Amino acid sequence: MTPAGVLRRAAEHLARHGIENPMPTAEILLMAVLRTDRAGLYTRREGLDAREARMFARAICQRCAGTPLQYLTGEQAFRGITLEVRPGVFIPRPETEVLVSVALAEVADVEAPVVVDVGCGTGAIALSIKAERPDATVLATDLSPEAVELTGSNAARLGLHVHVLEGNLLDPIPNELRGWVDLVVSNPPYVTPEEYDDLPEEVRAEPRLALVGGTDVYRDLGASALRWLRDGGVLAVETGATLASWVSELLSRSFARVRVERDLAGRDRVVVGRRP
Ligand SMILES: C[S@@+](CC[C@H](N)C(=O)[O-])C[C@H]1O[C@@H](n2cnc3c(N)ncnc32)[C@H](O)[C@@H]1O
Repeated sequence: MTPAGVLRRAAEHLARHGIENPMPTAEILLMAVLRTDRAGLYTRREGLDAREARMFARAICQRCAGTPLQYLTGEQAFRGITLEVRPGVFIPRPETEVLVSVALAEVADVEAPVVVDVGCGTGAIALSIKAERPDATVLATDLSPEAVELTGSNAARLGLHVHVLEGNLLDPIPNELRGWVDLVVSNPPYVTPEEYDDLPEEVRAEPRLALVGGTDVYRDLGASALRWLRDGGVLAVETGATLASWVSELLSRSFARVRVERDLAGRDRVVVGRRP
């Protein structure tokens, strides 16, 4: 069977299992198995060999069982870079690109800024900031050893130098940097334990540590950021749409000029404040 025929059958199977966008999903998985692009897929005349057919069938079954597409293809584009993605580490979301835009604008006038990304996951925020502001010194922390390892390997593959440190919030940041950090940026885990139980199976395939934090994480992050930020330094955090006003009120107690920024869908998404 030609790739076109294989795709049609796979898409029908995905649709029967309620997977959204079945044909594009089948195409992405087959491109990953055959290591080709869309043009390559549709111009290929020969059918799949036994190994390719087995790999594709397994990927389709895993997708039907709720494995996120990015865990199957092993990658996710984020702003201008492509990140390796693995099970055990949070998959970067397009909404977080807004956080990076807001954060970069806040330090646009700062020469060689010192930036800390708290909870780096794949390194999406830290690495895109380093790619777009090569003069920045970028540090990234995560409590998860898998995330620290993956950010390090994504950094090496992309040729971007960031310091990746394992630990809680800003605790692993060297004490010598206290009072010198220009920007703390974070997309912390903000789902409450109650909300977690109602998340789709596909989202619960991601690590619980990357998802569940609720409101406490913002209180701890704000206090931790204040210990490293210079006067006038910026804290920029992503929030869920329903949390933004709560986070903004919380940060207003210890930060100045606190404001909320919206994402492309018009939902409150980012809260920004400055160390007084
Ligand atoms: C929502 S994910 C964000 C990952 C990445 N920044 C992104 O936007 O794609 C949250 C990350 O924070 C990490 N994390 C959770 N609690 C943490 C803590 N107390 N200190 C540092 N990192 C933490 C998780 O392991 C996870 O990688």
